[in-house]
Amino acid sequence: MFALTGIGHLVTNDESVGEGKLGVLHDAALVADDAGNISWVGKQSELANHFDGKPTDVGGRAVIPGFVDSHTHLVFAGDRALEFESRMQGKPYAAGGIKTTMAATRAATDDVLAANVARLASEALASGTTTLEVKSGYGLSVRDEARSLVAAKTATTETTFLGAHVVPPDTNADDYVALVQGEMLDACKGNAKWIDVFCDRGAFDVDQARAILQTGAAAGLGTRIHANQLQQGGGVQLGVELGVASCDHCTHLSQQDIDALSGASATTVATLLPTAELCTRSPFPSARKLIDSGVTVALASDCNPGSSYTSSMPLVIALAVINMGMTCDEALWSATAGGAQALRRSDVGNLQVGSQADMVVLDAASHIHLAYRPGVQQVRAVIRGGKTVVGSL
Ligand code: NIG
Ligand code: FE
Repeated sequence: MFALTGIGHLVTNDESVGEGKLGVLHDAALVADDAGNISWVGKQSELANHFDGKPTDVGGRAVIPGFVDSHTHLVFAGDRALEFESRMQGKPYAAGGIKTTMAATRAATDDVLAANVARLASEALASGTTTLEVKSGYGLSVRDEARSLVAAKTATTETTFLGAHVVPPDTNADDYVALVQGEMLDACKGNAKWIDVFCDRGAFDVDQARAILQTGAAAGLGTRIHANQLQQGGGVQLGVELGVASCDHCTHLSQQDIDALSGASATTVATLLPTAELCTRSPFPSARKLIDSGVTVALASDCNPGSSYTSSMPLVIALAVINMGMTCDEALWSATAGGAQALRRSDVGNLQVGSQADMVVLDAASHIHLAYRPGVQQVRAVIRGGKTVVGSL
């Protein structure tokens, strides 16, 4: 059991206990039980009624829920620094770069893949990410996708089978789509909670994506989709039709796409990935327009060696506010509770009684500083499951 007190600004994401959608409390305290869950949240003046030990005083700092990064591709080997360098000199981003990472991933041992996942997961944790989704998708063979999911599982329970990332070289697309739905799904489903398809130019079309997602759902996996990253197309509307948990990227949206997402806001989240736009010099989609249209928006890092080699949720929040029209409150909600909704979780992404005691103590007076001070390390400590796992208090 532990308690924090002296919290100048506590974001609970519980409208019933504090101000606004973020449920903000000032001069607050919280208690976590021995199972690592929140057991009480309230005014510090009332703490003595709920905790009889010695609380840790955070000195007026802000405390926020740990970030829920609902979209990453951490299982890979090698990097694509040269591709990035040439992109910065004008070469456009294309799905084909995935094949470079596929070759490096296939050549890597299981230990190297797991070590890479561990390194990136701990990098993400250091910047405040306490819940992480991790996809396969750089193996693109039965053996290499299966062992990619074994590596993903070492870091998280939120694992996603993305055999349908691109068609590997020298393979017929129809044969590959059949393989993904057959032998590959069978080899992967035991270590996957979700199935995802990259439905875009240079990857899979709407009919292929529909078939793969439906087969995955029939095998018991939850569904999500990479949609409308490189151009407008039918990916978002397919996602809504299938009731996927999340349509991710949403860089190029038509009014019909926005209407579809808005009509499905209780079921399907639009997950925006602003560091992918940043690192591919793509236009930022308007989160403002989505939110004003009633769409539920999550924010995630898309951490991968091609389009977005960062795990920093604070940077994601800064971009969402500065370049996508989100308020500071909306961006924090989307990076915590929104990410949780994209993973259909209610036990993370908030600091409500009963939820996991996953939180970030900021070296700042409020969450506004995450966007206000882009690129500055402001994480004082990260607590996960009630234990301090980064920094000290
Ligand atoms: O989400 N869009 C597809 N997949 C990744 C990029 C993968 C890569 O370039 O290696 C993404 O941006
Ligand atoms: Fe992605």
